[in-house]
Amino acid sequence: METLGALLSGLGAITGVALSSPRYAAVSALHIAGIAFLIGGIVLVDLRLVGLVRSLDTAAVRLLRRLARSGAVLAIATGIVLVSARPDEYLANRVFLAKLAVIALALANAALFEWLARRRSLQTVLDSSAGRLAGALSLVLWPAALALGRWIAFV
Ligand code: HEM
Repeated sequence: METLGALLSGLGAITGVALSSPRYAAVSALHIAGIAFLIGGIVLVDLRLVGLVRSLDTAAVRLLRRLARSGAVLAIATGIVLVSARPDEYLANRVFLAKLAVIALALANAALFEWLARRRSLQTVLDSSAGRLAGALSLVLWPAALALGRWIAFV
């Protein structure tokens, strides 16, 4: 943990992202943009997987998953920069650590779905019980990460 804190402090010194600086505000805005792409894309895919939205074909699902993936990359990259503004506080914050754990689970679920889709084909997995389960888990995990992210400011 100490090494991680030192690494993040070093990153903070390089990027100059101090709390209350315009740079922090800009990175925070990009973090929210990433979250919007991620949640906007993945929730529609998940609703298709659990059977609540039927009208999305595989091409639309591919496009939305690409949007969600780009959003996740942006949210994760900017999230790391935000942490570098005050690493010791965040690494001692239980809500922040819970958020990271939930994100890790959501990413593992997404990776498993990706593996299945490559192995069997996206069309097959979209209408399978494994797909329904992955969609249901994702529908719980990503919004939970979002809620925990917002909660950090209040603890
Ligand atoms: C490794 C990945 C991530 C890291 C390290 C990270 C880190 C952070 C940090 C440090 C903050 C500022 C918290 C504060 O002091 O108020 C924040 C805010 C937030 N994060 Fe993340 N984050 C990551 C990914 C995500 C993802 C994937 C989501 C959504 C699913 C998310 C949702 C949020 C939300 C909603 C906020 C509050 C924004 C605001 O109210 O201005 N984060 N994140």
